[in-house]
Amino acid sequence: MLLLKNGQILENGILVKKDILVDGKKILKIAENIEEKVDRVLDLAGKFVSPGFIDVHVHWREPGFEYKENIYHASRAAARGGFTTVMPMPNLNPVPDNYENLKLQLDIIERDSVIRAIPYGAITKGEQGREYAEFKELAKYVFAFSDDGRGVQNANMMYESMKVAAKLGKAIVAHCEDNSLIRGGCMHCGRRSRELGLPGIPSICESVQIARDVLLAEASGCHYHVCHVSTKESVRIVKEAKKDGIKVTCEVCPHHLISDEMDIPDNNGMWKMNPPLRSREDRKALIAGLLDGTIDIIATDHAPHATYEKELPMQKAAFGIVGSETAFSQLYTKFVKTGIFSLDFLVEVMTKRVADIFDLPFGTLEENGYADLVVIDLEKSLTINPDNFLSKGRNTPYVDEEIYGIPVLTLSEGKIAYKDEEVFDIKYL
Ligand code: DOR
Repeated sequence: MLLLKNGQILENGILVKKDILVDGKKILKIAENIEEKVDRVLDLAGKFVSPGFIDVHVHWREPGFEYKENIYHASRAAARGGFTTVMPMPNLNPVPDNYENLKLQLDIIERDSVIRAIPYGAITKGEQGREYAEFKELAKYVFAFSDDGRGVQNANMMYESMKVAAKLGKAIVAHCEDNSLIRGGCMHCGRRSRELGLPGIPSICESVQIARDVLLAEASGCHYHVCHVSTKESVRIVKEAKKDGIKVTCEVCPHHLISDEMDIPDNNGMWKMNPPLRSREDRKALIAGLLDGTIDIIATDHAPHATYEKELPMQKAAFGIVGSETAFSQLYTKFVKTGIFSLDFLVEVMTKRVADIFDLPFGTLEENGYADLVVIDLEKSLTINPDNFLSKGRNTPYVDEEIYGIPVLTLSEGKIAYKDEEVFDIKYL
């Protein structure tokens, strides 16, 4: 048993001092003062204890792209960011579009991951958008179905997939991008792309497909979850769909909340991601959408790449930035310390709300619940230095930014998945 003394947890939005007794994978007791004789006691000295974060959107790259990232490193990076449950996307090689392929990934997760990882199954074979993946044989093992990395172009395929997913009790989690509207773009089509003379991806490239899909979701009765919404039009469509009682939910990424096109300093591929950083107006709509509940949750889209794929001009670089290790701290610094979000709200959209919309038995601190938790030093700060990342991916545009609210200890099912050696210099941990 492990006793965590003198932590502070959120109760009805207020921080209160509590001790937490962990027995095996579960939390046995949460109380003001626990005086149990146990072999391991850790004094948290007033630090904040949150339920472990849940990230429904990560790219763990294995099997297939281990030169960018692997499960060993990605899981440790996620644990360092306070995540205890993540859902790896299926743009892998081989793509988990049948059980045999998925099994390769599940076996590596079992062997190498320090946190819980529940992978996606693909919607179409090889994510090629032509034939259906083996939904039935995958359903038992996967979190949901997604062709993330690309949009499903054919409306009928999306409709049929939704109908099958609904029958299997699974969500369709959609990367929305109409290929006919990409137009060779490498950043948002707007003021900054014009200033830099670069081809732009228009907002409608995303929103048009969301509009199609919410109607398909209505017709099929499927739970439809939109990945990384980035435009004000997307927020508007989701808001209307929710009003109409359609089963739609969506996520936003930290970078789309924190940055917009005008933050891109020059023609630099480190700032390239899909969807791209949009206009300031879009960013404001995303923040408002998250605050009013139109946008349900935050997900990172942690997308590691090799440095040589990112240290390139925009048109040549790969899409994507890493996020696992800095997501909470960046959001805490930009939105909680400035009073735009409460701490309670930020934690909610990274934990309980995620569990609620996907019906998962995680995301809260409670007796008999899983001991998935993260201890955060809200006063501690650090400067983002990719050389110190646990992820193999070093591709972040946020180098040298100062962040606060640093996770110092992460427990996943009662086991230590990450500890800050400077804070917890204890051998037996
Ligand atoms: O920026 C992105 N990177 N967006 C995606 O949709 C895919 C992802 C990746 O796999 O690198």
